[in-house]
Amino acid sequence: MSKYLITGGNKICGTLSIKGAKNSILPLMVASLLNESISIIHNVPLIADVYTMIDILKSIGCKIDLDDHVLVIDSSNLTFNKIDEGYVKKMRSSIIVLGAMISRLEHVEIYEPGGCAIGKRPIDLHLNSLRKLGIEIEEGAIIDCKRKEIIGSDIILNSPSVGATENIILAAVKAKGITRIYNAAKEPEIEDLQEFVNKMGAKVSGAGSDFIEIQGVDKLDKVEHTVIPDRIAIGTYMVASAITGGYLEVDKIVRPHMEPINNTLIKAGCDIEYTKEGLILKSPKKISTINFLKTDIHPNYPTDMQAQMVALMTLGEGKTIFCETIFENRFMHCKELNKMGADTQVISNHICKVNGVEKLHAAKTTCPDLRGGAALILAALVGEGQSEINNIYHVERGYENIEGVLNNLGADMTKI
Ligand code: UD1
Repeated sequence: MSKYLITGGNKICGTLSIKGAKNSILPLMVASLLNESISIIHNVPLIADVYTMIDILKSIGCKIDLDDHVLVIDSSNLTFNKIDEGYVKKMRSSIIVLGAMISRLEHVEIYEPGGCAIGKRPIDLHLNSLRKLGIEIEEGAIIDCKRKEIIGSDIILNSPSVGATENIILAAVKAKGITRIYNAAKEPEIEDLQEFVNKMGAKVSGAGSDFIEIQGVDKLDKVEHTVIPDRIAIGTYMVASAITGGYLEVDKIVRPHMEPINNTLIKAGCDIEYTKEGLILKSPKKISTINFLKTDIHPNYPTDMQAQMVALMTLGEGKTIFCETIFENRFMHCKELNKMGADTQVISNHICKVNGVEKLHAAKTTCPDLRGGAALILAALVGEGQSEINNIYHVERGYENIEGVLNNLGADMTKI
């Protein structure tokens, strides 16, 4: 199994160019099932989750070409109605294929995704919402979905789940009548999905707010689209620069998407200047504590940047309390960071205390999950000596060629 070796101490400096968002490209690939035609998607990140989604779509009959970050998906001929257990276990978010598949086919089967490292992660909101649209669902090890027609309906989400909002949109785009989602997720990736399906001819409005309306249409057309930049990948590299005392120019961002992260980095002492399309980060001499950071739904601070900010605060001047409100078990990186000399204490499933220390040192650590793995890389970039990071397949799910990107910016990092 591959691992990273990182010798800490080099400043991360230079210009960064980042491809599309992982959490956007996956639902867009799924949405390409809806038009029964060609979808061309630009700015595709070459990450493991994209390859898994390519395998999933191919397994049900799509023809797919990937060339230089451009995906061409031909969904005109679906030949299979079942998603294999292996795919669902590998990538829990494969559950979002359900909405689009049941829009295309009258009978669909998909394995129950089950829990994962960061918590139980139920799918009740997905399934109950699809039931409201007239889809019959039997739950077991296999989720068995049947429908005659999909009928628009009012759906009130108990909590604004990103995946459930996407699944509802995907199932409702070609439903009979109007679907309204109340308490919808407001994440930027939902806006990207709305733009993508509307370019096909769908009638979705309200994405980015907590009320989304979908007027069903009969037919959709081919589409060409560029994925939004990955705010979490950009944020991770900004922390890499900040933690090493470096400087980073990012060539392309969507400013409102970055602001929750940027405002926190500014509190930590970073200087952020916006350029025409991107930004420039200058790191402080000493990292300030941000005192308290709570993860929450957009436009608040994203849970997917919690672990990276914990890594930064291990070197903050003083104490920081983190409150994780989205997932129930998302502090597993703390134990690993402590192996590197950090002083973190997980108080409960939702609260963690980080006392800033003077310096970190190298250690042998193991990625607990995708963003936790990123946090270990960040700490290793500044830890004295050579760190070894194992289970890097987690990181490869969401970061394209992270060792190449960081080495270009001055890191000493090898994948072996
Ligand atoms: C998506 C992102 C993930 C991000 C998360 C929150 C993708 C591929 N993944 O995940 O990176 O961290 O949004 O921004 O886009 N919940 C239920 N029942 C459900 C669905 C969710 O209780 O049916 C709970 C979850 O267990 C979790 C919370 O709601 O505690 C938020 O989950 P959700 O917004 O659905 O996240 P995902 O779509 O899985």
